[in-house]
Amino acid sequence: MFVKSTSYANFALVKYWGKKDSEKVIPFNDSVSVTWDIFKTHTILQSASSFSFVLNNNPASEKDSERVKQFLKHFTDDVDTVKVISQNTFPTAAGLASSASGFSALAVAANRFFNTAFDKEQLEAVTRKGSGSAVRSLYGGVVRWRNDGTVETLAAPIEDYVLVVVLLTGDKKVMPSREAMAHTVTTSPYFPAWIDIANRDANTLCTALMEGDFDTVGDTAQSNAMAMHASMLAATPPIVYLKDETMEVIRIIDGLRQNKTECFYTMDAGPNVKVISRKHDLDTVLNALREGGFSDLHVGRPAKRGAFIDDEG
Ligand code: DP6
Repeated sequence: MFVKSTSYANFALVKYWGKKDSEKVIPFNDSVSVTWDIFKTHTILQSASSFSFVLNNNPASEKDSERVKQFLKHFTDDVDTVKVISQNTFPTAAGLASSASGFSALAVAANRFFNTAFDKEQLEAVTRKGSGSAVRSLYGGVVRWRNDGTVETLAAPIEDYVLVVVLLTGDKKVMPSREAMAHTVTTSPYFPAWIDIANRDANTLCTALMEGDFDTVGDTAQSNAMAMHASMLAATPPIVYLKDETMEVIRIIDGLRQNKTECFYTMDAGPNVKVISRKHDLDTVLNALREGGFSDLHVGRPAKRGAFIDDEG
């Protein structure tokens, strides 16, 4: 027996950073993301005589295998009869939301494979235990994950939004986001301010998205990303994900905005930059990045759906 599923990465415009309940994975602040149609995870669950996890054609590390095994225990008492095969179409653990697409794909596949038939709330509660941001990849388009754990989708007019991921490095992160988040919560004096900023930003951003106010969407997303990084920079010891090249891309985007090209940047737990723009400005953004020496560019559009079952048998 097998089940195949697919899911997409989402990138947050207002970030999730900090858990107020680590066991249930309830965030301190609201976050708001867009699910994009690039950077996918394909997952297969199949019957086997023992548990194994194959990630990107290789046996996964003991740590990753254990994380997946523990996750599957939310669906079954018998994890020893399943083989998990997962393939990312992008570098794993480089701040490109591989845990979001990975755990959402795994959650929908497991729900079918083990016949758990979890409803919306139950599936969300389990998915976020795999990875908090994964709960947002269960859905397409704009998704808001509230600080009480609930999730809602927003019918915002984003059809002409485009994403350009500027891939600076596929190297592994300096620190996994789970650890970095906990370290920021416990040691950063800016963390309490971050919670207030992010909750306020989520309201501002959602209103701007619904009203089609791209300028405010951009301003809010950029300053929110920087506020998250500021909270990490103030931790002891500091967590520094951004690199010189990250700053160069930021300068290019700032320059474009000053010249009335509508675009903005955001960064997650890694140095890569995600630039969001609209169709009519895409070529201008791509040309400026290429002229600046950045050629590893990946263009995406909003995904109409989140994690789904591809096939089963
Ligand atoms: C910076 O969802 O990877 O991408 O819940 O501990 O697995 P865990 O964290 P994770 O954190 C994502 C953090 C972020 C911001 C975001 O996606 O909102």
